[in-house]
Amino acid sequence: MSKALIVYGSTTGNTETVAGHVGAALNKAGWETEIKNASDVSAAGLANGCDLLLFGCSTWGDEDIELQDDFVPLYDDLDKAGLSGKKVAVFGCGDSSYTHFCGAVDAIEQKAESLGAVLVTGSLKIDGDPDKDEVMDWAKTVAAHA
Ligand SMILES: Cc1cc2nc3c(=O)[nH]c(=O)nc-3n(C[C@H](O)[C@H](O)[C@H](O)COP(=O)(O)O)c2cc1C
Repeated sequence: MSKALIVYGSTTGNTETVAGHVGAALNKAGWETEIKNASDVSAAGLANGCDLLLFGCSTWGDEDIELQDDFVPLYDDLDKAGLSGKKVAVFGCGDSSYTHFCGAVDAIEQKAESLGAVLVTGSLKIDGDPDKDEVMDWAKTVAAHA
């Protein structure tokens, strides 16, 4: 069975909820999934042993893009995660009233791609409260392309 690792950073629980929905959809699609809080992982060798890596992160800050606090150490050390050639998809929650709507999602995508990751589909950017059906549909697309 193919294995997916989902790593999320979430302050108020929205991106955590999305991570749970993504995991459930991937399970339904026949994937073995593991969900981890970014605060519980280290970047070194993170991608080893999984076929698909999903990063979820909310966006903070105002003028500048700020990643959710727990995700920052992982982002900074992402070059140690072994992403070259690895299938990756990125999601996150934000608020479109801010200048950089889901800027963390873009930043993670760009860094992962620059490190050789293969983005399996476009990112999922959620404005406001997560909609379960929207998340499940996106995760199905990820599963179909991974
Ligand atoms: C002080 C503050 C700054 C924020 N900055 C941004 C931002 O720059 N871009 C954005 O899309 N959302 C921004 N948000 C919205 C959060 O990302 C949003 O509430 C999100 O759902 C939080 O997800 P989480 O519960 O997974 O941490 C901000 C919210 C607050 C309170």
